[in-house]
Amino acid sequence: MSLDFAMLGQLTQIFGPSGSEEPVGEFIANQLRPYCDELTTDTLGNLIVCRHGTGKKIMVAAHMDEIGLMITHLDKEGFLRFTTLGGVRIPNLVGQRVKFSNGRVGTIGVEKLEKPSDFKLDKLYLDIGVSSREEAELFVNIGDTAVFCGDFVESGSRIISKALDDRIGCFVAMEALKRTKSTHELVFVFTVQEEIGTRGARTAAYALEPDLAIAVDVTMTGDTPKAHPMSVKLGGGVGIKVLDHSMVTSPQIKRWMAAVATELNIPFQWEVLEYGGTDSGAIHISRGGVPSGVLSIPTRYVHSPAEMLDKRDVEAAVELLVALLERPEF
Ligand code: CO
Ligand code: ZN
Repeated sequence: MSLDFAMLGQLTQIFGPSGSEEPVGEFIANQLRPYCDELTTDTLGNLIVCRHGTGKKIMVAAHMDEIGLMITHLDKEGFLRFTTLGGVRIPNLVGQRVKFSNGRVGTIGVEKLEKPSDFKLDKLYLDIGVSSREEAELFVNIGDTAVFCGDFVESGSRIISKALDDRIGCFVAMEALKRTKSTHELVFVFTVQEEIGTRGARTAAYALEPDLAIAVDVTMTGDTPKAHPMSVKLGGGVGIKVLDHSMVTSPQIKRWMAAVATELNIPFQWEVLEYGGTDSGAIHISRGGVPSGVLSIPTRYVHSPAEMLDKRDVEAAVELLVALLERPEF
């Protein structure tokens, strides 16, 4: 299978923190226009891509937003204070570069600390290279958001980049839509605000009332030195979610996904994630409940500017999603 990883490279570098996903949606819409019947954006900003068919209405969800920062204060020397958008790890922030939608870049610094336990968000500041509040205001205002800088790099079979969570899910969904011969009613939803509480997926699932939903997102791994025990590793195949903090997958869905993967010789691994959640967490409890599953891309260093995954797992995910869309028989 030859996937367009150069397109993934572009997709990861687009600015799209929670609440500001429009540029990501625009890019995806342009890519998918030839492969669908209908493209709409809903009230919250979800991009909804439909390909009409008969039989089951299948919703595929992948979130467009990435974690980031929001500016809360500008001081008279021009230093900025900020809060986090999504699961940003505070101890990793010092020395990081962040970028605003206008392209302005800054470095995160930390005040002098009396003791290590004083290391908290309110001791950090952002330095955008100005000398006064007035000068800072030319570039940045209260409420502006920024994302981490993290180039897209291919290293052997591995990819390193910012925002693989969850542009890789968007990418897998896009590549699957381009390839699938499914005759079912397909609704691909590129969701907003997953990182701050799966908000886009919630309204989309309610409005669409799907018969089945599959989310595609990253999951963590247990394959690094002294990692928290977890049986997911890079290169081990696509993850089929069993559980995370937002859902427990029904036995029928798990069996169906694994049976299709086994039949087609697609490598997969069972995923039990002891923290975090995905769009399926919101979708499966929509209205009277929606049969839902998750395909996960094993990813190291999730929520850092250098997330890492393996291309072979991405290929397995696309292949399995294509097949599942063609045979929603669970
Ligand atoms: Co995330
Ligand atoms: Zn995610």
